[in-house]
Order: sequence, then C-alpha cells, then structure tokens
Amino acid sequence: MEVSGTGEHVLVFPYPAQGHMLALLDLTHQLANRGLFITILVTPKNLPMLTTLLSAHPTTIKTLVLPFPSHPSIPPGVENVSDLPFSAFNDMMVALGDLYNPILDWFRNHPSPPVAIVSDLFLGWTHHLACQLGIHRYVFSPTGALGLSVINSLWRFLPKRDDPTNNNSLISFPNIPNCPTFPWWQVSPVYRSYVEGDPTTEFVKDGLRANLASWGVIINSFRELDRVYFDHIKAESGHDRVFAVGPLLPSAKNTTERGGSSSSDVLSWLDTCAAQTVLFVSFGSQFVLTNKQMEEIALGLERSGVKFVWAVKEPTGGHAAEAYGKIPEGFEDRVAGRGLVVRGWVPQVAILNHVSVVALLTHCGWNSIMEALMAGVLMLTWPMSADNFSNAMLLHELKVGIKAYEGAETVPDSAELAQLFRKSVSEETRVERNRATEFAIAATEAVGEGGSSWKDLDQLVLNLSHT
Ligand SMILES: *[C@@H]1O[C@H](CO)[C@@H](O)[C@H](O)[C@H]1NC(C)=O
Ligand SMILES: *[C@@H]1O[C@H](CO)[C@@H](O)[C@H](O)[C@H]1NC(C)=O
Ligand SMILES: *[C@@H]1O[C@H](CO)[C@@H](O)[C@H](O)[C@H]1NC(C)=O
Ligand SMILES: *[C@@H]1O[C@H](CO)[C@@H](O)[C@H](O)[C@H]1NC(C)=O
Ligand SMILES: *[C@@H]1O[C@H](CO)[C@@H](O)[C@H](O)[C@H]1NC(C)=O
Repeated sequence: MEVSGTGEHVLVFPYPAQGHMLALLDLTHQLANRGLFITILVTPKNLPMLTTLLSAHPTTIKTLVLPFPSHPSIPPGVENVSDLPFSAFNDMMVALGDLYNPILDWFRNHPSPPVAIVSDLFLGWTHHLACQLGIHRYVFSPTGALGLSVINSLWRFLPKRDDPTNNNSLISFPNIPNCPTFPWWQVSPVYRSYVEGDPTTEFVKDGLRANLASWGVIINSFRELDRVYFDHIKAESGHDRVFAVGPLLPSAKNTTERGGSSSSDVLSWLDTCAAQTVLFVSFGSQFVLTNKQMEEIALGLERSGVKFVWAVKEPTGGHAAEAYGKIPEGFEDRVAGRGLVVRGWVPQVAILNHVSVVALLTHCGWNSIMEALMAGVLMLTWPMSADNFSNAMLLHELKVGIKAYEGAETVPDSAELAQLFRKSVSEETRVERNRATEFAIAATEAVGEGGSSWKDLDQLVLNLSHT
C-alpha cells in the first residue's frame, strides 16, 4: 500500500514546454493518487493539456486559470514555447514572472490555500513567493540528477570561458562527480545568453539561483540510474528533502492516447515486423531538422536496409518553412513496406514498448531517455541543445547509449549513418542492448511497490502533508 496524504492542498505550477509540463502532470497524478488536493496553475491556452488528468481526478484536482501576461517578444495568443525558437525560453520565464501578484491575491482570498508550491525549475521566482506566503516551495526538475547538477553549478559558480572568442573553450565542473567537461557551445543556451549580456537574463539568473534555496527538490529520475549525482545534489543542498520519483509515467493507461490519429496505423504496422528489428528515429517535440539533415538521415535509412519508424516534426512559427523538415521527394515510395514516416505527434511510449523496436536515434531530451530506458531500448545519441549534452554523457557512462552525432547544426554523413543503423539492430550492440534491458528492469522496480522511487514519493507526500 502506498502512503496516503492527509488531504493537504498543494499548488502545482508547470512551465509550458511540452517535456516540462507532461512530466510534472504525471507527478501530479501520483500525488493525487496518494490523497493530496491539488490546484494546477495554467494560462487559458494550456488548459486542454490537462483534460486527461482532470477527468481521472474530478474531485481532487482543480485548476487556477490566470490570464497570460503579455510580453513584447511572445506573439499574441501563444502561451507555450512549443512553437517558438529556443530563445523564447527566457522570454517565457520573464512573462510568467508577472503572475506573482495575481497568485498572491488568489492565495489571500482562498479559504484554504495551498500549504506548498511544487513548480518547475524554470519558475524559480516562486521560491520568493512561497517565502512571502510563509509556505514551502519544492523545485521540480524534469531532467535527471546529472543535468540538474550542471544547471545548479552553472548558476552557482557562474563559470566563464578562458578565451571569450572561442566557442570550443572547455568549461569544467570539478565539484560534480566525474568532473563533467563541455565545450562552451554545448553549455545551456540560457546560461550563454546570460554571459553574453542579454538583459532579460538577470531575472532568469535570480530564479535559477532561487532553486538552490528552495525547501525541497523533486527529480524525474531513479536512484539506480544516476545515484552519484543524486547524492551530490543532496550534499550540495545540505538537507534530506531531495526526492527521486521517476521515471514518471503517463496517467493514461492507454499509452497510445498521446499519439493522435496516426497511432493505430503505426502500431499495426509494427505488429507485422519481427522482434528486435526496428529502429525508431525521433528528435522530440521541440527540435526541427534542416532539409540538409533530413536528406542525409533519409539516405542513411534508405541505404541501411533497416526497418524503421521516423517521426518527423514539421516546421513551426520560428522556422522558415522551406528550409526545414522536408522529406526528400520519393523517399516514402522507395522505402515503402520497410519504413514508416509519421508527421506530427507520435505515440512514442507505445512505439518504444513494441517488441519489434530495438533502438532509438534520439536528441537526448530527458523524457525520451526515461521512456526508452523503461522500454529497454538502446539509444543512438545525437544531443542537440540545452541539457541534452549532459544527458548523452550519462548514457555513454552507463553504456546504454552509443554516440551518433553532436550539435543542432551538424549535418550527418548518410554512409556513416547507414552503418550505425545496421550496427544498432545487430549483435554488435549486444552489450548495450543487455544493459538497456537491465535498466528497464531497474526502472520498473524503482516505480513498483516498495521500489526506491515509490518510497521517495511516499516521503514526498509525507513532507507535503506536514508543512
Ligand atoms: C501549446 O499551445 C497550443 C495552442 O496555442 C496547443 O495546441 C498545444 O497543445 C500547447 N502545447 C503545450 C505543450 O502546451
Ligand atoms: C560562437 O557562437 C556564437 C553563437 O552561436 C556565434 O554568434 C559566434 O559567431 C561564434 N563565434 C565563433 C568564433 O565561431
Ligand atoms: C487507446 O487510444 C487510442 C487512441 O485514442 C484508441 O484508438 C484505442 O482504441 C485505445 N485502446 C484501448 C485499449 O483502449
Ligand atoms: C533538450 O533539448 C530540447 C530542445 O532540443 C529542450 O526542449 C530540452 O529542454 C532539453 N533538455 C532536456 C533535459 O531535455
Ligand atoms: C521528509 O522526507 C525526508 C527525506 O526522505 C524524511 O527524512 C523526513 O522524515 C520526511 N518528513 C516528514 C515530515 O515526513
């Protein structure tokens, strides 16, 4: 039996980027299951994201819908970063900061206001709000313990590169176990824009430093995966309230539900493929490939002879439509029967868990990694930006990932790719495939009854109930 909360009221505040939001909503589902009353704060356009969760918990989860505070760099009507370029991450943080007073008013007028705030790491200012209200704020990290360690160190120590004109200058983090080291261009773009003097980032910096002072830390990972980094965060924070509660799983039992109309086609096609023969290519919900990258990947898939599903993200507001996301002419006909191209959102979890799927070419976003690990799927790593580089580093360290490429601008070589694709479905990767299976078992145990993440969730609920 899981621990049951004492019906305390908690405010959950997700940051409106798909990867961040889905993970925190999955945590909210778990908290509601354990007897907490929850109010989720969103702006109107993001309300549809909550539909499944709200129908699963009609009495225990409520919403607080506040108008989106306008911002000169965010187009009217846009309330999440899904369709915006990466630079909008900063603007979104700044815009949402204007919700401080509306939230304060809401608390002051509420008959039984929340006793704690659980909010995304990009909403660090909610720590100050919680202090003013005399309650506790728990920071939610949608990324793992290594990724969070790197973010914390960046904003705590504010490292500079030796040569400010050299994008390959190395930045090391000697305080973190195994001393991670990255060339400057792989460091968080939010941090780089701060060092380069972007004036909006003072607010961002203050928020990320406030994370370090927050009452508790919740990480979407499990101890068996990144224990040394988890222990590091605990030591660094100087208290015991650090919880690893992952992998957080979708609240919907039906994993195809997040996939839209294309779901059943993909899955029935996979049913026709033999076990452990299919490569899945997906760069997540945010990243759009250039036409040149698309061409080489297509050619690589074609030349490899390997079966595949390729999830293609089409260009959005921030991209010149003609330069991005174009599937080469005739490609789909040439690979008909052997491969499937899917546009838009795919049922990623269901695909990864299909017995035919053996490997994933990934941008190393944390949610994709968690999903692939749970499914015991080998990863071919091509980190694109943000924290993706430290995620890739962890996968190589754990020997569940094989390096493909690095960097959003890199154009791969189709012949090299074809070879890597063939290798990924062959016996040559037996060691990594076995490791992936071991981690799938460990992840399943962690979230199962009595597992490490299960116990941390219990402790978290007890903490939230005794504030
Ligand atoms: C982002 O907003 C659009 C509409 O503006 C909506 O369709 C989409 O579901 C939202 N996505 C996320 C991740 O919030
Ligand atoms: C370093 O990277 C920045 C941002 O991507 C770019 O504007 C600049 O031209 C690069 N500098 C060099 C010397 O390559
Ligand atoms: C799962 O959801 C998909 C898409 O909504 C639907 O087509 C399918 O029938 C559902 N499967 C089950 C087992 O409920
Ligand atoms: C990985 O990169 C994507 C964009 O490519 C970004 O949305 C995400 O926040 C990054 N970090 C993690 C930890 O997933
Ligand atoms: C809160 O969690 C910590 C860490 O797991 C635990 O030591 C402590 O007993 C918990 N506090 C309460 C009040 O449950």
